[in-house]
Parts: sequence; C-alpha cells; structure tokens
Amino acid sequence: MSEFPKEFLWGGAIAANQYEGAWLEDGKKPNVTDVLVGILSKDPGIAWNEETKKYEMKLNPEKVYLSHDAVDGYHRYKEDLKMMAEMGFNSFRTSIAWGRIFPNGDETEPNEAGLRFYDEFFDTLNKLGMAPVITLSHYETPLHLLTEYGGWSNPKLIEFWMRYVKTVFERFKGKVKIWLTFNEVNALFRMPFVAGGVLTIKNPKDPDSPLASTTKQDQWDAYHNLLVANALTVQACHSIDPESKIGCMMTASAIATYPYNCDPDNVLGALDVQRKSVFYMADPMCLGIIPSYLKSVWKEEKVTVHFTEEERKLIRENTVDLLSFSYYRSTTYEKGTNLKVDTGGVACKENPFLQDKAPQPWGWPVDPSGIRYTLNVLYDRYHLPLFIVENGIGLDESLNKEDTIEDDFRIHYIQKHLENVQKAIELDGVDCMGYLYWGPIDIVSAGTGEMKKRYGFVYVDRFNDGTGDLHRAKKKSFDYFKHVIETNGKEL
Ligand code: BG6
Repeated sequence: MSEFPKEFLWGGAIAANQYEGAWLEDGKKPNVTDVLVGILSKDPGIAWNEETKKYEMKLNPEKVYLSHDAVDGYHRYKEDLKMMAEMGFNSFRTSIAWGRIFPNGDETEPNEAGLRFYDEFFDTLNKLGMAPVITLSHYETPLHLLTEYGGWSNPKLIEFWMRYVKTVFERFKGKVKIWLTFNEVNALFRMPFVAGGVLTIKNPKDPDSPLASTTKQDQWDAYHNLLVANALTVQACHSIDPESKIGCMMTASAIATYPYNCDPDNVLGALDVQRKSVFYMADPMCLGIIPSYLKSVWKEEKVTVHFTEEERKLIRENTVDLLSFSYYRSTTYEKGTNLKVDTGGVACKENPFLQDKAPQPWGWPVDPSGIRYTLNVLYDRYHLPLFIVENGIGLDESLNKEDTIEDDFRIHYIQKHLENVQKAIELDGVDCMGYLYWGPIDIVSAGTGEMKKRYGFVYVDRFNDGTGDLHRAKKKSFDYFKHVIETNGKEL
C-alpha cells in the first residue's frame, strides 16, 4: 500500500469535560457530565425538589466525581500538547465547554475568562502546528439548562445555543478552521441526558430516576430542536467565517450492523438499526431531508413531530461541509435478541468471525474491517468528505518498573484499523480527510466515568478512587504512532 493523501490530518481527539477538570474554575458552572456518575448509580447527582418542582444538583460527598478534576488539563495542557506535537500531530480535536463561556447557558453576556482560556489553548495548538478541530458541544450542555428549561426539548435552547456559537465563531475566527456541531448527536435516544441534553421536568413519573422518566415526546422535541439548531449553526458559521468548514459528528459504529445470517428479517432488522441509530440524524444534517420512514416511527411511539415549511427549507439549505464520526466496533443483528447500548454503540449476539479478542473487561468487539465498511456506506450515501475523529481502544493498564506500558494490543488495533482506512481511500476511492485517535492521553471515560479505561499513548497517573500524582508517561504506542505519522501511513 502507498502513503496516505498528502493533506491527511493525523492527530488525536479529547473532550473538555473528560480532560480539563477545573469544573468550577474561572466562572464555569456544572454541565451534564459533572453529575452523570451520580445519576447512573442513583447516588443521586440530581434530585427532585418538591417545593420548587424542579430537579437540582445533589452530590454525594462520599463519591468521587472524577470529571470534576479529570486529568487537570486546564492547568497542564501546554505540556500535554507538546507531547502531542512530538508525535507529529498536525491536528487536534477538543471541545469548548459551553459552561465556561455561558456558565448557566442562559446569560446574555459571555464569560471573558472562559473565552481567554480557549484563546490561549487554540493559540498553543496553532503554534505547535496542530490545526484545532473544535466540537461545539461534547456532552456539555450546562446543567442549569436542563433543570430550569428541560434541556433541548425546549425551543428556548436554540436561542441560548445560537448566542453561544455566534460568540465563539466571532471570537475564534481565523484560529479555528474546522468546527463540529454536536458530538455523537445521534446518541440522543440511547443517552438522552448527556447526548441529548434532555430532562423531563414536567410531572416526573419517577423523581428518583430522572433518566428513566425522560419521555419519548421530549426526546423527539429535542430531535426537532437540535436539527433546527444544527442548520442555524451551519448558516452562522458560513456567514461569520466563510473560510472555515463545519461538520456534524455521528457515532457511526452502528453502521457496521451485520445481519446475523441471511434470514431476510435479519437483513431488514439490520437496516432498521442503521436507520434508527445513524441515518435518522445524519440524513437531515448531510442531505437536508427528514427521512420518510420516521413517520411510522412517530406513529408507533405516539409522538407528534412537526417541522414547519420554513424549518424544512432551513435544514435543506444548510447542510454540513463534512461528516465526522466515531467508530469503535461492529455488531450483529438477530431478530428477537435484545440490543444493548453504551457509548461505543449497539451490541447484540457475538460475531464468531471476528479474530481479535481485546484484553479488556468492557467487552467491546474489535472489528477493523468495520471501519472500511462504515467509510464506504457513509461515502456512498452522502458523498461528503469524511473525517474519522474517534477510533481507539480502552484498556485496563498499569505502569511497569520503567514507568511505561507495553501496550502491544493498542498498536495492533491501530495498525489493523489504519490498514482498512487505507484500503477505503486507495481501493474504494473514499474521500477521508483524516484520522484522529480517541484519547491520545488518558482521560476520564465518558461511558463509565472511570479512569481505569485508558486509551492514551500517554499515561496519566490517576485512579478510580481519585488518587494518583497526575504525572504523565509515554506508553510504547507513543513511538509507534509517531512513526506512522512520520511515514504518512506508509509504514503501519
Ligand atoms: C465516544 C465519546 O462515545 O466514545 C467519547 O464521544 C468517549 O466522549 C468515547 O470517551 C469512548 O467511550 P468510553 O465510554 O470508553 O469513554
């Protein structure tokens, strides 16, 4: 195989809430991920207040909320980014924590300290030769917008969001040339609280379990409002900074949903998973259409979803410039078997044809061919530049006596996935603009909220119980990935 294209973007991706910490510093207020660990374990994170008839933040002081300090990136990013540059990254993805700019989300004036922080962050990236790839919201809706307004099911969020995005487009014009709107926005229905930023606050059925009580109607209202917001954001970005490009961001692992066998029910069922997991959101954002099969979904779920003619026109005329996505794993589909979901995607019956068993307790299947399949399906359907902005493997690792980790499985994982990306580009003609490895430095896991699930080329000394001296150490994969970039993918 030959090299990757000359302009190929090599780098890594993180998210503000999993990396920065400093959760209440310089004016920032809590966002949805800051309480998630509590909510998932009913411990409780947020609790219903019978007097105000609202949810409010309620933390258990005995519990460690790792995201609050994360890996202290807020204070250490300059040193960390130097290590990323040392690997030869020419691009780097992170997010802006919305709550640093508009702490509650509904203010009319931005928080200057937050803007200054990202000014310096993006300057540092540019100086080090890494193009900033910036997600506007990576599971980071300010908590106040959920407890006060019910989150994205409320159309008021569009107004607050637009104030935020216009502020950052204007402020960072020229510094940021690639923007992504909402991280894994199509995970709205499987993770309504974090990915959708939705909370049902009208007469909750189960006040102790806000996640369970979020109604389908609220989730579909959020779908409507997010699509309108996405189109308005694309429009604003193009008008404020015509030099920059803006993309949507999908969790695309569910594209690689394989029928368990040739039973036509399984083939149709697999298509249904692709539609309900990815296409239902990517079609409006990339093609400007609201898919027709949604009508029967809405009927079945007894919800009303209405787009006005004006909104349909807005969505049609403001499609994204590129489609970015995460790919971690594939799944099978067999009728009658329950589908399980988490941050990585959908899981059904084990695929007996997959060769690699990852040494990790989270049970995410490893399927490098799935990334080639995903690239092809997305390119055939959308004909847009594709950007892999997340792919990686989380492992349970500890330092050896030499203060390093021999992470051979991670090297193997990357090598096999990149081979498939290369085939998709060279043999299939897919326009893939880059590969950003997820979590090039250990950060807090989005799905489990723990440190134990490590993705990094760089280790960070922090543990699930909150201990650790936070020192950084290079793993074996650091040199491997550096070599891949040096040879522009010729030597994998
Ligand atoms: C993606 C998210 O779903 O997967 C990231 O965009 C997340 O935020 C990544 O960290 C890996 O998931 P996890 O649960 O292993 O952290």
